[in-house]
Amino acid sequence: MGFFTNKVIWITGASSGLGEELALQLAKENARLILTARNREALTTVQQKAGGESVLLPADLEKDDLQQLSAAALKAYGHIDILINNAGITQRSMAEDTQPAVDRRLMEINFFAPVTLTKSLLPHFRERNTGMVVVMSSMAGLMGFPLRTSYAAAKHALQGYFETLQVEHTIPGFSAMIVSPGRINTPISLHALTASGEAHNKMDKGQANGIPVDVCVRKIVAGMRNGKQRVIVARSERLLWLFHKLVPPLYYYIARKVGANQ
Ligand SMILES: NC(=O)c1ccc[n+]([C@@H]2O[C@H](COP(=O)([O-])OP(=O)(O)OC[C@H]3O[C@@H](n4cnc5c(N)ncnc54)[C@H](OP(=O)(O)O)[C@@H]3O)[C@@H](O)[C@H]2O)c1
Repeated sequence: MGFFTNKVIWITGASSGLGEELALQLAKENARLILTARNREALTTVQQKAGGESVLLPADLEKDDLQQLSAAALKAYGHIDILINNAGITQRSMAEDTQPAVDRRLMEINFFAPVTLTKSLLPHFRERNTGMVVVMSSMAGLMGFPLRTSYAAAKHALQGYFETLQVEHTIPGFSAMIVSPGRINTPISLHALTASGEAHNKMDKGQANGIPVDVCVRKIVAGMRNGKQRVIVARSERLLWLFHKLVPPLYYYIARKVGANQ
């Protein structure tokens, strides 16, 4: 029996990109899935593609009552083994132009929603002495990058929150894994928020040339199987991060230059 066989895994943001691919790969590992996102139709398509056992739990993580949502997720199979906080939305706008409401949206979806869902399940994990939470941060959670001020802020906040949760570690059998992808080839830039909160609607070059989504998800799934605390899936962003740590002036120079050419 494989590591994921019969495990109940709740994936948020399962209608597209990394979440969709996580659903496909974990279904092949015989996991039992709960799939959440706003777009029910897209979730149904993912469910059909994945096959296996899955339940749809459409929701808006910015607007809906997340305690009620968690209760509904727990009811689906009677328990949850793994929560994958994957849903997220990025940004393509300069700080000075970005509407305050857009800053707040980015924090709600990328930070408060995963924190609220995680906290709602911790008593359940404590009761069962087991549980895993995966959180999708970003290389933008480790360093700043132009046009992504509040997105990077939300991902840095996630990083701090989940790293602290990892070191507190008071629940036996509980683990948390932080994933920091660089640019992955998903439609994320199409859905990115502009200064006024409209969809950016462009497939950025960096995204189109990004790491294939199936390659990224294979690394995430391997990290979960091997009980990793951190998984980084990146190419040139990894080098930039090294500069950020070791040669800060070089990081500032490159990040500004690359950002200006986006
Ligand atoms: N692709 C990359 O290069 C990259 C790099 C670093 C980190 N990440 C992170 O990876 C995660 C997945 O991104 P992706 O690349 O797969 O992007 P994506 O294709 O745009 O998928 C985002 C998912 O989040 C869901 N979502 C967005 N807002 C939501 C809301 N209010 N309520 C519920 N669900 C919501 C979307 O579903 P609906 O629209 O149906 O609600 C969709 O399923 C995000 O957290 C992102 O920050 C991605």
